[in-house]
Amino acid sequence: MDSSTLSRIGLAGLAVMGQNLALNIAEKGFPISVYNRTTSKVDETVDRAHREGSLPLTGQYSPREFVLSLQRPRSVIILVKAGNPVDQTIAALSDHMEPGDCIIDGGNEWYENTERRIQQISNKGILYLGMGVSGGEEGARNGPSLMPGGSYQAYSNIQDILMKVAAQVEDGPCVTYIGEGGAGNFVKMVHNGIEYGDMQLISEAYDVLKHVGGLSNSELADIFAEWNSGELESFLVEITADIFKVKDDIGDGYLVDKILDKTGMKGTGKWTVQQAAELSVAAPTIAASLDCRYLSGLKEERENASAVLKEAGLNEEAGFVKSGIDKKRLIDDVRQALYASKICSYAQGMNLLRAKSDEKGWNLNLGELARIWKGGCIIRAVFLDRIKKAYQRNPNLASLIVDPEFAKEMVQRQGAWRRVVGLAISAGISTPGMCASLAYFDTYRRARLPANLVQAQRDLFGAHTYERLDRPGAFHTEWTKIARQSGTGVAALN
Ligand SMILES: *[C@@H]1O[C@H](CO)[C@@H](O)[C@H](O)[C@H]1NC(C)=O
Ligand SMILES: *[C@@H]1O[C@H](CO)[C@@H](O)[C@H](O)[C@H]1NC(C)=O
Repeated sequence: MDSSTLSRIGLAGLAVMGQNLALNIAEKGFPISVYNRTTSKVDETVDRAHREGSLPLTGQYSPREFVLSLQRPRSVIILVKAGNPVDQTIAALSDHMEPGDCIIDGGNEWYENTERRIQQISNKGILYLGMGVSGGEEGARNGPSLMPGGSYQAYSNIQDILMKVAAQVEDGPCVTYIGEGGAGNFVKMVHNGIEYGDMQLISEAYDVLKHVGGLSNSELADIFAEWNSGELESFLVEITADIFKVKDDIGDGYLVDKILDKTGMKGTGKWTVQQAAELSVAAPTIAASLDCRYLSGLKEERENASAVLKEAGLNEEAGFVKSGIDKKRLIDDVRQALYASKICSYAQGMNLLRAKSDEKGWNLNLGELARIWKGGCIIRAVFLDRIKKAYQRNPNLASLIVDPEFAKEMVQRQGAWRRVVGLAISAGISTPGMCASLAYFDTYRRARLPANLVQAQRDLFGAHTYERLDRPGAFHTEWTKIARQSGTGVAALN
């Protein structure tokens, strides 16, 4: 083949994300070859490229032809289901690749799988990137947030493409080299965990406004639209406003009220919580959002429980609109509670990233990660610019909560935050995400916790020893013996 007709890059795996990313790359002027085992997928993509503006995209029908249609060093993005399909695709393509070529996995892969593949394929001299891609279908087509990790050389080979293809914000394209090994996948995983938290917190704000405040769907649409022009401006708040506007097309009322209250999930949220536990990092808001998805899945059990507890005499008042509520005040309070809860959730996610970075030596730049999430991805929000600046001010910031600006905002909002959570609790409306965030804040900010008592208990039953506030060393006390000897001990009461 004449080298001038070779494509700059290739993409294999033409499901929704793959097709859209391929068209995006072609549209930015980079000739691309596409491949999928299912030939109809190739035809479909070629057809779309033609219809969407005669884009420089070529369909290929065998792994060999596909690989040979690329300029060297070859770069191939694969977008197939995580796990085995990735290994199969790598096997099919790498047979035809040469040392210096590169495979870029754009799926939501477990970071350790990427690290294993980096090792395996390095035997053939092939480079590898695990690249988080966020933004769904729309983002892939018009500008996603990209989180490439692995071989820096491989990143350099396609940096110009990634910079053009990524979402653009005022301080640059939403892509950066994340770090070695599985760093890109890991960062994408935590992004998704944060996304779980955001969605949970928004759903709680909705629940409180609807069930405590008695707001209608059209009022909710207006409130969320209004919030989207302030500190909460974000993709998720924007789409939430839209959701409340959609009428049911096969019945009366609004569509949102007809949707079964069972949440699906694909695993990145669970991984985030597992990793937090592995690294001893508290991530209660993200964990609460995961627990809520599990509980939502028990629809039938919850219906039964509702009936049993009603039978047992549970006050019907719980869960009903409070009379005499000041709607305007409630709406303003919920906005503040949502914002403060969100700061705590991001603080957890960022600290998880920091802990993993320290463990793996990834050298993650947290401010830069916040920056590349400002556009393209699902958690994109104006607020991420503030996070970026917080880490620019102090790259070693222990927690977002103690950044001077965020600290001020948390303090300003805590009254509203406590009112919302208190009101929800007394109304029997569960707000696990907001409660987890508030408890995280209150636990983190308190110089003294009741952990002294836990240490005493551990020393009593397990001789685990304890430290003292007033002198160094490990101490052990015969708690029971002393307590029961002394006149005021437990035994003396018998
Ligand atoms: C091709 O398409 C099918 C079905 O859409 C998919 O399951 C498969 O993983 C795709 N990828 C490749 C590389 O063949
Ligand atoms: C719910 O209750 C019904 C009727 O008692 C029972 O048949 C069903 O197994 C229960 N479901 C669950 C998931 O507990």
